[in-house]
Formats: sequence, structure tokens, C-alpha cells
Amino acid sequence: MLNDRVTIVSQERLAPGIEKITLLAPEIARAAAPGQFVNLYSDEKDKLLPRPISICEVDPERGLLILIYAVVGKGTAEMAAKQAGDTMRVLGPLGKGFPLEEAERAEEVLVVGGGLGMPPLLYLCRRLSELGVCRDKLKIFLGFRSEAWMGEEFAPYGTVFMASDDGATGFKGNAVQCLQLHVQQKSQNQSAARVLYTCGPLPMMEAIQTAFMDDPNMSLWFSLEERMGCGFGACAGCPAQLRMPDGSIKREGVCKLGPVFSGKAVVFHE
Ligand SMILES: Cc1cc2nc3c(=O)[nH]c(=O)nc-3n(C[C@H](O)[C@H](O)[C@H](O)COP(=O)(O)OP(=O)(O)OC[C@H]3O[C@@H](n4cnc5c(N)ncnc54)[C@H](O)[C@@H]3O)c2cc1C
Ligand code: FES
Repeated sequence: MLNDRVTIVSQERLAPGIEKITLLAPEIARAAAPGQFVNLYSDEKDKLLPRPISICEVDPERGLLILIYAVVGKGTAEMAAKQAGDTMRVLGPLGKGFPLEEAERAEEVLVVGGGLGMPPLLYLCRRLSELGVCRDKLKIFLGFRSEAWMGEEFAPYGTVFMASDDGATGFKGNAVQCLQLHVQQKSQNQSAARVLYTCGPLPMMEAIQTAFMDDPNMSLWFSLEERMGCGFGACAGCPAQLRMPDGSIKREGVCKLGPVFSGKAVVFHE
């Protein structure tokens, strides 16, 4: 795990309030796995807590780490003000990523991203492709509020379905509605083993859980976001509620045992 100051290679605005930052961080780029995240630290003493951001892509050969983030408060505004050549403190890679073995065995792999949950799924799709998950098997559903700010990057790895709340991009509706249409159209093959990976807003993941909870042929993997303190299991600040096989509910730290959990075990409301 690297804990160091790294240099910013570039910073690019993808859409108003959405930034793509490329960092020179060879150790993280080499050690990372899809679904993991990094902690970014502020230079200002009044912002001691790190800002966790998912790894969107890595280029191990060139030592590059790529992150996409929304500017929502002081910490991300400070990041957005940085330019190529500036430095920042980064810790990572952190957490446990997506389990990939099931995808190799499944007959269909579904990837569903909403909003800022989409970027880490790009790295996931590339790794799945490298592991031999062919384009025909991988279906990618991306949900936007309006105009798309990413999407083409996914095309080499699978069939991409875009959805937007206002219809400006692709299907008018959300990514889960788009996914359900696809699944219904393929209903003649309901017994096919499928695995679904998702990252995005909680209501989106809850809708996926509701739709597929009782489907014995569908495995669900959710990447959760929680407010975090330390980011590595030291402060008990980021609990997720998970239903155990005996029906009891256990609280697990999202930062250390997640952020990826079995989607059928996640408890959204007590
Ligand atoms: C594992 C993990 C991965 C993440 N990956 C990404 C990513 O790839 N891209 C991205 O844009 N954001 C991501 N986030 C959210 C990101 O960490 C927060 O948006 C960021 O820390 C906000 O910092 P700030 O100082 O700018 O805002 P603050 O001033 O701290 O907060 C501004 C607003 O953002 C909300 N917020 C702050 N932290 C979180 C959080 N952890 N989860 C949800 N809402 C939060 C606050 O409730 C508030 O409404 C991730 C969070 C986690 C836990
Ligand atoms: S953020 Fe400290 S334990 Fe998870």
C-alpha cells in the first residue's frame, strides 16, 4: 500500500462539476484491483479526514492512476483546483474489490452503473475482458441524469445500454428500468447463470436487489459508499448492515471488508 505524495499528470473537466484526474502513482497502479479505492488527503489542516475515491482505471506500465469525481464540497473543490505538476497525498489501494471468478463461469455478465458509480466499472469491464469474458456475454447499463459524460470507453468490452432520466441520452428512464427490459426480453433463458456487478446511488442498488433477490440464478455484487473516517478499518466509522445466513444482521466496515458486498446480503432499511 502506498502512502505518499504523488504528482498530478492531468486534470480534465468531463462535465460541469465532474473532473477526471490522472496521477503518477506506479505502486498503486500495479497493486490495484477493480472496485478498490484510494484516500486523497487535503493540504489544509482543517480538513484532516481523507476523501475516498474509487479507482476508475490504471495503466500499470506507465504508472498511471485515473479517478473521476464530482465536486460536491470543500475537499473535492480543493482537488479540482489542482493542476498538472501539482502534488497531493494519496493512500491506497484500499478495500476489497469485485470478485471476478463468477463472471468467468456465468453465461451472462451484467454491469450496472449510475452517476458517479460508473467510473470504477470501467476498470472492472477491462479486467473481465482480459480474463476472457467475451463481448457477447457482457451487458453494460449506464444511467445518467441527462447528457452522458462517459460511455464510449465501455464499448470495447460489451454491449452498452445508456439511459437518462430526461431522455437526453438513450433510453428515457433509469438504468434499472433499462436492465429489466433487457432481462424480460431474454426471459426464454431464465435459468442461465448470471452475475451482476453494480455501483451507484443506494436507491438504484435497492431496486436491483428487489428485482433479483429471489432469482437463484443471479449473483449480485454491490459496491457501497459510506461516509468514512480513516478508510482502513481503524475508526469503526463506516458500517454496512448485512444479513447473515441465520437471519441475523451484522455491521461490517465498508472500508475494510468492502466496499463490495454480496448484494443479496445488504440491508438497506432495518
Ligand atoms: C469507497 C468510496 C468510493 C467513492 N468513490 C467516489 C468516486 O469515484 N467519485 C466521486 O465523485 N465520489 C466518490 N465517493 C464519494 C466521495 O468520497 C465524496 O463525495 C467526497 O469525500 C466529498 O468530499 P468533500 O470534502 O468535497 O465534500 P464534503 O464537504 O465532505 O461533503 C459534501 C457533500 O457530499 C456528501 N458526501 C461526503 N462524503 C460522502 C461519501 N463518502 N459518500 C456519499 N456522500 C458523501 C456529504 O454528505 C455532503 O452532502 C466515494 C466514497 C466512498 C466511501
Ligand atoms: S472509515 Fe474508519 S473504519 Fe471505515
